[in-house]
Amino acid sequence: MKKVALGFTLILSMLGVNAQNSTAIDKKVNALLKQMTLEEKVGQMCQLTLNSIGEGPDIFTSVEPYRVDDGRIKRAIVDYKVGSILNTSNNRALSLEQWHQVAVRIHEEAMKTRMKIPVIFGIDAIHGVNYTQGSTLFPQELAMAATWNRDLVQRGAAITSYEMRASSIPWNFSPVLDLGLDPRWPRFWETFGEDPYLTSEMGVQMIKGYQGAQNNVAAFDKGAACLKHFLGYSVPVSGKDRTPALIPENYLREYHLPSFKAAIEQGAKTLMVNSGIINGESVHASRRILTDLLKKELKFKGVVVTDWADIENLYKRDRIAATPKEAVKLSVNAGIDMSMVPYSVDFCDYLIQLVKEGEVKMERIDDAVSRILKLKYELGLFEKPITDYKEYTQFGSKEFEKSSYSAACEAITLLKNENVLPLSKGVKVLVTGPNANSMRTLNGGWSYSWQGEKTEEFAQKYNTILEAVTSKFGKENVLYEAGVEYNMKGVYHDEIMGDFNAVQQKAAQADYIIACIGENSYTEKPGDLQDLYLSENQENLVRELAKSGKPIILILNEGRPRIISRIERLVKGVVMAYLPGNFGGDALADVLAGDVNPSGKLPFTYPAYPNSLIAYHHKPAEEQKKSEGAYDYNGEFTPQYPFGFGLSYTSFTYSQLALSGKNMGKDGSLEVTVKVKNSGSRDGMEVVKLFVSDVVASLTPDVKRLKGFQKIALKPGEEKLVTFRLTPSDLKFVDLSNRSVAEKGEFVVEVANLSSSFNLTENILF
Ligand code: BGC
Repeated sequence: MKKVALGFTLILSMLGVNAQNSTAIDKKVNALLKQMTLEEKVGQMCQLTLNSIGEGPDIFTSVEPYRVDDGRIKRAIVDYKVGSILNTSNNRALSLEQWHQVAVRIHEEAMKTRMKIPVIFGIDAIHGVNYTQGSTLFPQELAMAATWNRDLVQRGAAITSYEMRASSIPWNFSPVLDLGLDPRWPRFWETFGEDPYLTSEMGVQMIKGYQGAQNNVAAFDKGAACLKHFLGYSVPVSGKDRTPALIPENYLREYHLPSFKAAIEQGAKTLMVNSGIINGESVHASRRILTDLLKKELKFKGVVVTDWADIENLYKRDRIAATPKEAVKLSVNAGIDMSMVPYSVDFCDYLIQLVKEGEVKMERIDDAVSRILKLKYELGLFEKPITDYKEYTQFGSKEFEKSSYSAACEAITLLKNENVLPLSKGVKVLVTGPNANSMRTLNGGWSYSWQGEKTEEFAQKYNTILEAVTSKFGKENVLYEAGVEYNMKGVYHDEIMGDFNAVQQKAAQADYIIACIGENSYTEKPGDLQDLYLSENQENLVRELAKSGKPIILILNEGRPRIISRIERLVKGVVMAYLPGNFGGDALADVLAGDVNPSGKLPFTYPAYPNSLIAYHHKPAEEQKKSEGAYDYNGEFTPQYPFGFGLSYTSFTYSQLALSGKNMGKDGSLEVTVKVKNSGSRDGMEVVKLFVSDVVASLTPDVKRLKGFQKIALKPGEEKLVTFRLTPSDLKFVDLSNRSVAEKGEFVVEVANLSSSFNLTENILF
């Protein structure tokens, strides 16, 4: 009791401190703003990339090792008063010492300006500080979602923030809160998957990890998060990055908005805008989305930054502005606070002219600059602009590495197991496939370089799947033949055929075949895809292996579900590895050997066909069950593996699903309880998932929606009671007037194979 009361007082007093800090900061911001010239204000709104201030033949290429160019940095920071820099240089990771030098040099220059406002540095540290050498790289977001473990997500983000601050960087362009709804999209793996609830839950954890639970971002190991990409970036019609999307507003609000809303409520400090186009409207020019929805309705008080060169895109790509200057006007008036330009200071010239011409109001500039200055104060940049990396003694430590390894272990998802796994220690295995001996494919894009192509250079000390399996099963028991390799010099989807005869010979000597297939690393446009099937070469490799008659275990090391329906029946086991990071090889070897019992669950629906890219939360019209008399067309919803699916080496039995009542009113809630037992013979972890469905609604309802989950550990024979609470808010949907409503009537609750129902007794408008 005392503990609770103490905790409560502590929270209250912390809130009080935060509120006081916030008013004190507002005062400082106002005082500073009053002294600033238009040029100084506009400079704060401009963000340049590191290469543009580097020494080198041009602003796109810098010398190695990186050095700031005295003339270029002076022009940017002293002459143009630029307030922010981003990115690494020459698209390669820098050492801690180099980051320190960069920070020192930038700060020296900022101190030469009249206002002495520190420059804020931003970086994409999306799975660890992936642009700092020796940092702890984690599984990518999709894999983190597959753990269904909130603590692991928060811990990973906390380590990332620590190592980011060790690199003297206070601002992280993460998390991605877009939904992974279309597996063709090349950034699918950067998401938490297809579900709005799972994405919201994991997003909040990530922000707590980056910013601290109380958002004390000035702390030595915390920084600012950046929610991206607001809003509706992930579902372009063509599946190709940065191409137009069609999203009705009720769907935008129903599926895409909740994760951002939850993150804003958690206190996320900054947000990045969607580079794309929705219903013909470029989001960077959308006042409706950036000001009316984001700043007014959601009351977002932080900084809104553009994505890379996206103001220019309004002119160059989308042709909604006749000149680059008009593009600046459209976007700043829409609600942009900072432009990730990223190479030129023209943005400043245009914006200054626009204000002088009355085309952009001074209030808009003041709003943007106040937000930026506030962020700089909150981050403590005025007091401590540079950190000393030597004080960050846990950087890259064994303890941090262990967190990454645990996350990889809990992410790995066993999708098929016909009595083949785990393998016993003495067996002889053939390890094959283009992903078998590559650190690059384990990490994916945004690893030591944008596309991940420099990974082998920096990740030598970690184990590939082949290396980890070899140390686990013994050198004498492991054969290797790639069969198919990625062409590292060509475009990302290029492959080179290997020696299938050698593969056959080695298969003949092995007891089992571990076929490591999937994709090479990629992100953004370079990852666009014409065909979602697994490549023909890799399919043929599996067909060839099947001729040996040896049991095959497929390891899927891929950023999106490449379709395997043409070869799946040839294999006995399927293990989804996602992009598990630097410890993915070790985790996989442990899962294969049974030292780790897999507990990952798919955070998306794994499609069986390229024309069936439908999420689990689809409408009843998508079901077309043949068993219920539907025509024998290809209309049935039959994914390869459903959302939330994942096997274990033990088994779990569910019983006694109970609701605390049969009715729920406006102010009511219901408790849902269920018993879960480990009915097998190994320790295991289970993800207990609660789904709810609206039986009849005025807009055709989704067949079901996830409304709760808990990951629990159970010993053999152990049983636990799991409790969830449902409130009316879990029953709502967005209607055609874009209002959130819950309609009275029957709702079904589903946990595993059990279900029960209750009634909502009144209509509710939220
Ligand atoms: C990506 C963003 C990223 C930014 C800065 C863009 O191309 O879309 O996700 O944060 O670059 O590197």
